[in-house]
Amino acid sequence: MPKMTFVEPNGTRHEVEAPEGLSVLEIAHRNKINLEGACEGSLACSTCHVVIDAAWFDRLPAAADDEEDMLDLAFGLTQTSRLACQLIMTPQLDGLVAHLPAATRNMGVDK
Ligand code: FES
Repeated sequence: MPKMTFVEPNGTRHEVEAPEGLSVLEIAHRNKINLEGACEGSLACSTCHVVIDAAWFDRLPAAADDEEDMLDLAFGLTQTSRLACQLIMTPQLDGLVAHLPAATRNMGVDK
């Protein structure tokens, strides 16, 4: 079974089982990870925004235009941001690391 890791804004890591064919959003919800996903994966929100670990970003399939458009609305957009509902787990993504953005406009302001 592939695994992936979610990293909370405070640095807490959760390694979880990541069944092939499920989206990263579905995997988060199965494991009670605090990732919203208000539109349930229909690309009508940006609340499933995650920041992919830089080492993994290039291994992901490129984002479709619709995903890019929605990402533009996400808070705290980064170079390696993606929408979790659009990332489908495959064996190649075993070990994927996704950071949960702090969902506020203050993201990026150091404490
Ligand atoms: Fe709404 Fe991903 S859950 S775009």
